[in-house]
Amino acid sequence: MGLSAWKLAGNNRWALRNNPSSGNLHPTESYLITSGINNIVAGVYHYHSYLHCLEQRCTFESPPAAESFLIGLSSIHWREAWKYGERAFRYCQHDIGHAIATFSYAAATLGWQVEVLDRCSDEHIDSLLGLNRQVDFNGAEHEKADVLIQIHTRPEQQAVNIDDLISCAQQGYWQGQANCLSPEPHINWPLIDDISNTCVKPQTESLHWQPPQLPELSACTSTAHATTIIQQRRSAQAFDGISTLPLHDFYRMLDCVLPRHNTPPFDSLNYAPRIHLAIFVHRVESLEPGLYVLARSANGEKVLRKNFNAQFDWKKTAGAADHLTLYQLANGNSQNAARAISCHQDIAADSAFSLGMLAEFDSNIDDKPWQYRQLFWEAGMIGQTLYLEAEAADVRATGIGCYFDDSMHEIMGIENTVLQSMYHFTVGTPITDARLGTEPPYTHLKNS
Ligand SMILES: Cc1cc2nc3c(=O)[nH]c(=O)nc-3n(C[C@H](O)[C@H](O)[C@H](O)COP(=O)(O)O)c2cc1C
Repeated sequence: MGLSAWKLAGNNRWALRNNPSSGNLHPTESYLITSGINNIVAGVYHYHSYLHCLEQRCTFESPPAAESFLIGLSSIHWREAWKYGERAFRYCQHDIGHAIATFSYAAATLGWQVEVLDRCSDEHIDSLLGLNRQVDFNGAEHEKADVLIQIHTRPEQQAVNIDDLISCAQQGYWQGQANCLSPEPHINWPLIDDISNTCVKPQTESLHWQPPQLPELSACTSTAHATTIIQQRRSAQAFDGISTLPLHDFYRMLDCVLPRHNTPPFDSLNYAPRIHLAIFVHRVESLEPGLYVLARSANGEKVLRKNFNAQFDWKKTAGAADHLTLYQLANGNSQNAARAISCHQDIAADSAFSLGMLAEFDSNIDDKPWQYRQLFWEAGMIGQTLYLEAEAADVRATGIGCYFDDSMHEIMGIENTVLQSMYHFTVGTPITDARLGTEPPYTHLKNS
């Protein structure tokens, strides 16, 4: 969640982070909750990305002896809403998904594993992170609880006892005040409040879904260290509209978004995939340009087949591994369609491929409205995988949060809300803006 670089243009400079964020507005806050770990006083800490330090929020007076190592994530909707209005809600959720995957990849570089604690209620998270302490948020924009994740530093690590940690937090010693981002009056976006209230998560049973056994991922062609790839990740501003992506890289990127045991980031989720990819192939070696679909689960494929345009071909893509359920639906140049759907952004047409992420929607949200948020998280996680795999394949990606879902649905022949487009993405050979300068991420600390 730290800075990855400073960008310079004339007198302007702005920081980028390892995790992407819509409009680079970074509404996600992250917290560390620990107990029973050497050299760290048990308690709750807020991460400060500019200073790259932890701010101690709560000291547990009598912490549980058992080891706990948790990360909590929250969103400040206003950080996106001042610019994007109602769309801010979904962008905040996408960013949470990117952040979960960011933690998952970072943990994997240390041999650790991340587990999303899907049983926790938002009320639990509020209590643990101190987000319900109005006295500490006096005049500051409200932070909404999103997710707790456990970091497993060794296999078979015990599940943490959240209730114990919450009572430690309730009896603990708290310090610090949230700072106010914009003191001027805020524009009110009632829909954001409505949707956040509708999607509040209650406590639920733990889920225990296991991914199917899949063949190992094909080798990554990059020899760069994971850390290098993570820190060099950037969003492409423009693509060259010419270069062709090698077929091996395309298949590997898609394979990486399938859940596998012990493979970040989807081994952090205890539920089956709910998101599938509708792909506009523009320039991929040996593949006919056209519309393709990757079903991320067998059940998902059934839902897609039932709800897509009945005229689609469903031709299994030649050369793809058997388990990669990638089908060609229609051939032809889909650049104009992709551009138009993505709010007329050229990045969706000039890339090697762009895609829409389709969620199994009604079945997931009808009686569990909080899963609406989880659908965006899963989409954000897929996005983070594509960002990193693109860097590893020496190309670049960009998240596309601005898209027209109705137009996407029309192309796919979707006539109801069984499926819903949640996020778009694009991958290709970037054109880099030579006018921009770059500085290392923490030069401002060295100079001060
Ligand atoms: C949820 C999300 C939506 C985004 N939507 C768009 C978009 O519609 N168009 C675009 O050019 N970039 C988009 N981006 C890219 C961001 O602008 C970019 O992440 C941000 O400027 C930070 O730059 P970086 O990714 O290079 O760190 C999106 C990123 C995210 C995470």
